[in-house]
Amino acid sequence: PPQRTLAVIKPDAMEAHRESILEEIHARGFSVAQLKETALSREMAEEFYKEHREKPFFSQLVEFMSRGPCLMLILTKDNAVEEWRALMGPTDPDQAKAASPNSLRARFASDILHNSVHGSSNEQHAEAKIRFIFGDISSDAEIPDD
Ligand code: CMP
Repeated sequence: PPQRTLAVIKPDAMEAHRESILEEIHARGFSVAQLKETALSREMAEEFYKEHREKPFFSQLVEFMSRGPCLMLILTKDNAVEEWRALMGPTDPDQAKAASPNSLRARFASDILHNSVHGSSNEQHAEAKIRFIFGDISSDAEIPDD
């Protein structure tokens, strides 16, 4: 069955690479269920990346992610979480260039922090981040037809 994941085009990629990334998303067979451009506040960026709050790069990450607009997308496809992670490639673009030269990070990321795209790491995170960014209206709740 199709699965959902949250994909983010980060502020570093919004001007120069947004269209190429969207083209690649469609070419690889993902459907875009919802999308919106959002500038995260510092507080939202902190909450979004709370799993990383003990990391030495946390404050840089929050600063970067709140510096300008991001494009938030709900992608659907069979095995979407893993497929989107494969399309992004490794976190570090140097590693991405070596291991996965056609990946988005190999093509568009400038360094390990400014790495162009984000994707949820598992299905549970995906649903939680989708709820955080898009609100409950995007959940799988049934709408009664009367
Ligand atoms: P992302 O996949 O969105 O998840 C966490 C983010 O933290 C990651 O992409 C990078 O933007 C950033 N990040 C991860 N590791 C490092 C690192 N060693 N130094 C700086 N930034 C990092």
